[in-house]
Amino acid sequence: MARKRRIWYNSCTMSKRKIVVTSALPYANGDIHLGHLVEYLQTDFWVRFQKLRGNDCVYVCADDTHGTPVMIRARNEGIAPEELIARTHAVHLRDFTDFQVAFDNYYTTNSPENKEFSERIYAAMEKSGGITKKTSPQLYCEHCQMFLPDRYVKGVCPKCGAENQYGDSCDHCGSTYGAEELGAPKCTTCGGTPVVRDSEHLYFELEPQHAYLEKWITEHTTSDVSNKLLEWFSEPLRGWCISRDAPYFGFEIPGHKGKFFYVWVDAPIGYLASLKNWCEKNGQKFEDWWQDPNAERYHFIGKDIIRFHCLFWPGMLHVAGFEQPNKIFVHGFLTVNGEKMSKSKGTFVNARTYLDHLPPEALRYYYAAKLGGTTDDMDLNLSDFVQRVNSDLVGKVTNIASRSAQMLQKKLDGRLATLAGHEEELALLQKMRDGGETIAKHYEERRFNQAVVEICRLADAANEYFDRKEPWKTVKTDAEATRITLTAALNAFRILAIYLKPILPAYADKAMKLFGESAWTWGSRDAAVEGVALGAYEYLASRIDSKQVDAMIAAATVKPADSGEVAHESRASKNKAKAVATVVPLKPEIAFPDFEKLDLRVGVVESCETVPKSSKLLKFVLDAGALGKRTIFSGIRQAYPEPEKLVGKEVVFVANLAPRKMSVGVSEGMILFAGEPGTCGGAVSPTSASGAGAAVT
Ligand code: MSP
Ligand code: ZN
Repeated sequence: MARKRRIWYNSCTMSKRKIVVTSALPYANGDIHLGHLVEYLQTDFWVRFQKLRGNDCVYVCADDTHGTPVMIRARNEGIAPEELIARTHAVHLRDFTDFQVAFDNYYTTNSPENKEFSERIYAAMEKSGGITKKTSPQLYCEHCQMFLPDRYVKGVCPKCGAENQYGDSCDHCGSTYGAEELGAPKCTTCGGTPVVRDSEHLYFELEPQHAYLEKWITEHTTSDVSNKLLEWFSEPLRGWCISRDAPYFGFEIPGHKGKFFYVWVDAPIGYLASLKNWCEKNGQKFEDWWQDPNAERYHFIGKDIIRFHCLFWPGMLHVAGFEQPNKIFVHGFLTVNGEKMSKSKGTFVNARTYLDHLPPEALRYYYAAKLGGTTDDMDLNLSDFVQRVNSDLVGKVTNIASRSAQMLQKKLDGRLATLAGHEEELALLQKMRDGGETIAKHYEERRFNQAVVEICRLADAANEYFDRKEPWKTVKTDAEATRITLTAALNAFRILAIYLKPILPAYADKAMKLFGESAWTWGSRDAAVEGVALGAYEYLASRIDSKQVDAMIAAATVKPADSGEVAHESRASKNKAKAVATVVPLKPEIAFPDFEKLDLRVGVVESCETVPKSSKLLKFVLDAGALGKRTIFSGIRQAYPEPEKLVGKEVVFVANLAPRKMSVGVSEGMILFAGEPGTCGGAVSPTSASGAGAAVT
């Protein structure tokens, strides 16, 4: 018996686990906010814990780049979707890095690896007989030239008659329906009235996997999740529509021209693609991580995307012969002060806005203190946040180090004592070490809140020891006894900092340097640092002030007028619109058909010169290709002190504007100038927009 147990123990502690961990891939059409961070921070805590324990753990993620919102937003900004997703990728990664979230790979779903995996998995889905076709009526916007996803159409609820409802469900009566059932539907992008058109779509049938998935769910999710999911299994499982019509930003489905994979098909496949990409960059084999039954795979997700991860995803992996994730870890949603995050209340806070006002450690610590590994929602109570960070992280834990280190350095040359033979001190450190296994178990099971409670309990014991020894008094009478006290207190702190490392990595690194060490593992807690000089004391964590929180909330508050329901409108474009509006008020909105009346052409500036006696006008001669030459007078002289520099540039002009007789000659069109250099003809200054608008020909 005893022997067996020892063998088990040895193999368990000595063999490294191989673990792949993911967080859900954030959409590339918006900023990271404090709600997202509930997920990325807890995943990061867990990954860092695994690494600290010596396991081989790889944390992969990516931007979720495909789908209609990205396409529309890029269209609105006048850029290619690739440009938009590249920009977002950089912003997301910077936010995560500044919050100390350490991905091993942060990739994109718009990658060659993902395309290949998606095609391979789809081919397997087809081969398994799981793909069917169905034709159904859908709303099509002729102006936008696209089929409208549910969130891009609004109209009257077919059940209760409420106005302004989305194409999938009614906010008012809660009923769900097809978008084509809406009364008086309107395209949310252009305001036009869509028509009903038939379209054929591909479905992935899940009913053939009914029994497999039912069993899978009970084994791979926690009971609160599986209880809910299993309700669906009392009926046959419905097929899942996996195709979308062009135009769509995504991967075209092989053999189905004009049809694209629905973003939720290639999004989870993006986990595999990011892992593969990491393997390629690190000399590893994908199969050793994803296909090895001894390796472990975990997805951290929010409760809103359970269906995709616990039904469709295992179904896809199963028919394609891939290994499954071992477990799906589901968390709840963030509330702020007990309520849903709200833009008008300033509680919908972006990661960057937070960082502009507060240190990342504070949020990491607070989230850890609240997260218990369940699907319950988690509340960020802002006054509790300030209080907990100040009283526990700063007042309890950090205080041990700051008081002891500063006293040792100021009064006792900064040299640590040796503790051998000092029973009370050795017992204190043993107590700190003994807490470690409980803390590790809490980390492993994602009860970060319990880990923090345990760490604070140990900090209380260390503070109690410190206060009882009264080193601030003894330092005046017994230097060596005081040195013993401070050495014990500092080593107790050292162990706590090791325990906190998954939650507070930068903080722990500073603490590590204080002790002159270069790499901490979980096992480093068994050692003590004695008889050497302490390093310089660097500020570890400082108190936060409710004024910082107030300033953050003020910065995040969006006035009701700007918080309107424009689906997925970018902050950048909103800001831009505001900036323009404050300079020149907008003229009344025009309908698309009015815009379509303009015939816009490109011409090359052949000559450009000033006009005698006019301080405003420039005379352009354009080479307009097949249209011949055009003479156009433009009132933008002030923006271009050197008109000859425009020669050779391409400009866009309105070619079908009626010729206008001016005192200086006939103008045969109107040249359009944009706001920024490089956007139109390459040499336009920011001031030209108003100049052109006011006085062109
Ligand atoms: N792109 C999909 C995920 C694809 S995974 C193959 C998506 N993106 S998301 O940006 O909307 O959300 C990313 C993750 O953040 C999800 O797990 C989501 O549940 C989580 N959260 C987003 N807002 C949240 C809160 N307010 N609170 C807690 N988590 C939240 O879904
Ligand atoms: Zn439209």
